[in-house]
Amino acid sequence: MSDLIEKAAKIIVKSKNLIALTGAGISAESGIPTFRGEEGLWSKYKPEELATPEAFMRNPRIVWEWYAWRIDMVLSAKPNPAHRALAELEDMGILKITITQNVDNLHERAGTKKLIKLHGDILTARCVSCGYKQHLSAPPKDLPPKCPSCGDILRPDVVWFGEPLPAKAIEEAFESARRADVILVVGTSGVVYPAGLIPHVVKNYGGKVIEVNVSESAITEITDIFLRGHAGKILPVLVLKIKELA
Ligand code: APR
Repeated sequence: MSDLIEKAAKIIVKSKNLIALTGAGISAESGIPTFRGEEGLWSKYKPEELATPEAFMRNPRIVWEWYAWRIDMVLSAKPNPAHRALAELEDMGILKITITQNVDNLHERAGTKKLIKLHGDILTARCVSCGYKQHLSAPPKDLPPKCPSCGDILRPDVVWFGEPLPAKAIEEAFESARRADVILVVGTSGVVYPAGLIPHVVKNYGGKVIEVNVSESAITEITDIFLRGHAGKILPVLVLKIKELA
């Protein structure tokens, strides 16, 4: 593994435009469950009952109860060494942008500034009618919460299955993928689109793909280097090696 990490570090040190794509796996060591795999959320809950606009309109209270539980988890979680390693790479001027599928705020709390959130933010609620938005510093007391501006109900400001991703986020993410010469893919199964396309765009434009995952994903077949292991263990070692070589 150490020679693979050295190889990855050499590619990153030489890179002109390194970007990162992260998924739920980067927050797993912070105690936040992933979606797929034996312990994943989708092995216990049905996405069609909790993460679709139809489910929300059918039963906003049930959906909010599930999100309240997840909001609690995010608020009591802490960034782990993987989040901090990416923030450090950004501070060193090497990582230009981090694109995340995660709705938690752990990248921000680790210090990452240049962040694209493709799937929204679990700590923001927005009105289903007037677009009013509010930051949540705790799960809402009354479920579903009411819009203080128009009285309709608020929903979690996240992207549900079947919904479009925020246009600006998608545009910026694919533009950075086209410009990237290296992408570091951390903790994603790569099976959800359009996020899962991003490493393919980098590859198709001649860039290199480095993946960190505990197991193979839908991205692994196009990777130049596959670093098998926990992101919280591998990324700090990778950053240390990059510092040595830089
Ligand atoms: N370190 C690195 N990788 C890990 C770790 C870890 N400690 N723990 C788990 N993984 C990997 C798993 O092997 C898996 O490949 O993280 C990945 C998590 O995959 P998913 O649970 O599918 O999460 P993600 O890829 O982010 O899902 C994408 O699906 O349900 C939607 O909107 C949701 O944003 C989410 C999207």
